Amino acid sequence: MLQKIANLRAEIEGLTAANADEVEALRIKYLSKKGVVTALLKEFGELPADRKRELGRTVNEIKTLATERINALRESLSAVADTDVADDLTRSAAPVRLGTRHPLSLVREEIIAIFRRLGFTIAEGPEIEDDWHVFSSLNFAADHPARDMQDTFFINRMPDVLLRTHTSSVQSRVMEHTEPPIRIICPGRVYRNEAVSARAHCFFHQVEALYVDKNVTFADLLQTLQYFAQEMFGNDTRIRLRPSYFPFTEPSAEMDISCDLCGGKGCSFCKGTGWVEILGCGMVDPNVLRACGIDPEVYTGFALGMGVERIANLKYRVNDLRLFSENDVRFLDEFVGSH
Ligand code: DAH
Repeated sequence: MLQKIANLRAEIEGLTAANADEVEALRIKYLSKKGVVTALLKEFGELPADRKRELGRTVNEIKTLATERINALRESLSAVADTDVADDLTRSAAPVRLGTRHPLSLVREEIIAIFRRLGFTIAEGPEIEDDWHVFSSLNFAADHPARDMQDTFFINRMPDVLLRTHTSSVQSRVMEHTEPPIRIICPGRVYRNEAVSARAHCFFHQVEALYVDKNVTFADLLQTLQYFAQEMFGNDTRIRLRPSYFPFTEPSAEMDISCDLCGGKGCSFCKGTGWVEILGCGMVDPNVLRACGIDPEVYTGFALGMGVERIANLKYRVNDLRLFSENDVRFLDEFVGSH
């Protein structure tokens, strides 16, 4: 038996295979139920106890050797296969991981597309602004709290240079050098001096819309809002306006949409009211038109402004504002395929 084992060891050590089929044939020949090594083990099992003690280790070694040798052959072949593939110049390139569009870009583009269909065109203005365009031209009183250091990032005082706190500044920039009719949509980033938390951030994004022409009425505003809400949130969406106050509009309102989570019945998202607030709006205050060189006796207009993050929260249920600017790919990957 010792001689047999020695022969088998030499045989196994010399095994070679050219492909996976040959490896499999070797496995069957040596290690399957009817294989050579299995037969040896069977033979060993029938030996008297003292012979078992003498040969046990050697027989076990043969089994291990055969298993390892065959596994090694299999691995070396698959390594060769990998190299072959790498050298195959006709293969298409390794899959390129596509990036995703940022949820705020998705929402901004959607808002713009809706207003475009109504004939609005994009207008942009600077993020670093002066007091006139952000506050004074928009009818903010000299002592209005929004000018306060706590809300506004000032870069310079007297003359005041500051980071715009809203995109309404683009309204006055456009009005001061454009003859009505004016129909613009102004997307952009705005800044406020807020402690960063899940619900507030020191920068965020807004979209402003302004329509100035002869005979623009509140009914035009209402129709526009209705259209926007249904395009953005679905045909079943209802809107409601609540009276409000903004220095640059009179009358002013805030618009709510019916909560699409609970269908208006009331849930934790809408705090049981069935409504969620999404934007501010109103008829452009005659003082604003006048400040921008437009005759309020001839022209009227409406304006509205909304937070892009707010709309994105409603659409995608992102409940921590900080996620939008952290650029964590695990978050961004959730928008794969959205466009
Ligand atoms: N500028 C306002 C804000 O930042 C939003 C706003 C409200 C814009 C009413 C408007 C408007 O044009 O008419 O909160």
